[in-house]
Amino acid sequence: MIVKNAWYLAAWSSEVSSKPLARRICNEPVVLFRGLDGKASALIDSCAHRGAPLSLGTVVADGIRCNYHGVVFNCQGSCVQIPNQSLIPAQARVKAFPLIEKDQMLWIWIGDAAAADASLIVDYPFHGDPRWPCRQTLAPVAAHYLLIADNLLDATHLAYVHGNTVGGANPAVHMNAESSLQPTPQGLRYERLMRDAPPPPAYSACVSFPGHIDRWQEFDFIAPATVLQYSGGIPAGADRHTAQAPRFDMRIFHSATPATDNSCYYFYSVANGHHTDDPQATQIICEQVDAAIVEDKLFIEAQQQRVEELGEERLFATAADAARLMARRAVAKYNRAHSPGE
Ligand code: FES
Ligand SMILES: [Fe+2]
Repeated sequence: MIVKNAWYLAAWSSEVSSKPLARRICNEPVVLFRGLDGKASALIDSCAHRGAPLSLGTVVADGIRCNYHGVVFNCQGSCVQIPNQSLIPAQARVKAFPLIEKDQMLWIWIGDAAAADASLIVDYPFHGDPRWPCRQTLAPVAAHYLLIADNLLDATHLAYVHGNTVGGANPAVHMNAESSLQPTPQGLRYERLMRDAPPPPAYSACVSFPGHIDRWQEFDFIAPATVLQYSGGIPAGADRHTAQAPRFDMRIFHSATPATDNSCYYFYSVANGHHTDDPQATQIICEQVDAAIVEDKLFIEAQQQRVEELGEERLFATAADAARLMARRAVAKYNRAHSPGE
């Protein structure tokens, strides 16, 4: 199931230029491009003349020109030019999708355009904030998009999947975390605190800690597909609000956009909050998270294959699934509120 009446991240702002970009979103072929005025647009990626992809076209002053026979469509999808013909037929138009640029991201709405409420778009002011230098990445994943948030919200996987990166090898650290889980209007907030724990390899690669640390992880899930993560560590017993170096601070923005029923685009940005004036430190933390996401992808894609083959009916939940299950309920609630009648 794909929730269609929702804003999904179509692309990082930096990915879209006057060179058209093809992307499949919610099973629809979409072309993204910037007009000569710099404004980004999204159209169905198929010309209304003979169906050729507009992503093979060229951005021109009036919009985008299909490079098969030269027909031009403007950013609203109306045909504005046909070579050697002044009459433009009424059906000569392509579907345009609502697209909003915010916080260095382009958000698209594939469902009912009349329901596209811009106030539903996630706020993420950390992109572009010099206190949080970051890098933005896109990883295609061959799995249903809801499996990305499922993965992030079940913290027990950290010790098994990420023993050598962001987790650390001791499962007890994660099992014994102090945690709180609260519903929010658009999803949930999940906070975890692990006191007096060894720093995991990814943290040690970034910051030298003399001994054990107090670690925190905070997740805000925003239905249907975004997770805002803030994680960090300070020497055990220190005050998180006042502790100076050594301390580790990281923000990760995660958002999964459905491409098809069993594939998605996993967008994530990783921000360095500990050595903010050192680009090398940002690079190191990003490499650590990249490695962790490769570890997740292996499991998520393999899980997708087995679930497709054998179904979900026989699967059971553990106590650690509480946040994941709350997130699924939030997605269902979102869908009821924004797709009435489905
Ligand atoms: S298919 Fe696009 S102009 Fe003919
Ligand atoms: Fe993970």
